[in-house]
Amino acid sequence: MAGGEARGGPAAGGDGAPGGRGEATGAPGRRGESAGGALDAGDEVRRTVLVAGASRGIGAAIALAFADAGPVRLVLAGRTERDLQSVAEAARERGAEAEVGVADLTDTAQARELARRAGSIDVLVVNAGVNQPEPFLDVTEETFDRLFALNVRAGFFLAQAAAPAMPRGGCIVFISSQMGHVGAVERAVYCATKHALEGLTKALALELAPRGVRAVTVGPTFVHTALTAHQLDDPEIGPRLRAQIPLDRYATPEEVAGAVVWIASPQAAMVTGSALLVDGGWTAR
Ligand SMILES: NC(=O)c1ccc[n+]([C@@H]2O[C@H](COP(=O)([O-])OP(=O)(O)OC[C@H]3O[C@@H](n4cnc5c(N)ncnc54)[C@H](OP(=O)(O)O)[C@@H]3O)[C@@H](O)[C@H]2O)c1
Repeated sequence: MAGGEARGGPAAGGDGAPGGRGEATGAPGRRGESAGGALDAGDEVRRTVLVAGASRGIGAAIALAFADAGPVRLVLAGRTERDLQSVAEAARERGAEAEVGVADLTDTAQARELARRAGSIDVLVVNAGVNQPEPFLDVTEETFDRLFALNVRAGFFLAQAAAPAMPRGGCIVFISSQMGHVGAVERAVYCATKHALEGLTKALALELAPRGVRAVTVGPTFVHTALTAHQLDDPEIGPRLRAQIPLDRYATPEEVAGAVVWIASPQAAMVTGSALLVDGGWTAR
């Protein structure tokens, strides 16, 4: 893992194959226990948080929000090492341990190796996603497969690789969208992928509950990032989209990140199988 500064390293060995690592144990919030089982006064529990798609935009903001939220070992994944290193550096300046895992998550072997090297992951944030707005009648098989490959398949198998070594109290957060709850023109494939994530999350919430692991989604409205700039900066499309947000503005990456930090926290320990929308009221209609 490039630029690794984390202490402790992988907490579980194994071959990285799903089910190939032992299930970790421990009650939520008790991972700072000493060997004798007692928590020393003032002990702060360091969590390992893997952010998939951390090199820019919402994922970078999520990484930095976790850096601000308490002791953390961040594993920052994506394809572009230079960008990941600069997010890692910013996280270290905020007191976090941060390492970079360069991986194309659509390659399941790379995703599994990333999870294996990360070891026991307390919080997995599946943020990497892509969109290509276009009319339903123009969608090609290539576009359909490309969007499903990243938005659904990559996160599915990354979660499958990470789950066996997640401790009790662990949490998988899929970054979905308001489009995981409603339809929209020129978004047939994107809506289908995000609705798929919502269904996957409900199924995982049930199946992982006996392990004490939660699964949730966070669904933003429009956020100005590299993904959306071409639309939001368009003098016709941008205002039209913004006018559909009752609060009459885009969300910021930091507002999405704040929701992720909360939903992954012990304060949200009873929240699983749920969607937290950060949509300015878009889906309230
Ligand atoms: N922006 C919005 O308005 C909005 C609204 C609702 C939901 N969302 C969702 O929020 C998430 C983040 O969106 P964003 O706007 O921040 O997008 P973005 O700026 O394009 O960032 C996408 C991130 O995913 C990574 N990524 C892309 N392909 C990858 C791959 N094959 N393997 C590994 N990493 C990959 C990118 O890094 P590399 O290119 O370096 O790999 C980057 O870090 C997405 O799931 C999106 O659907 C966004």
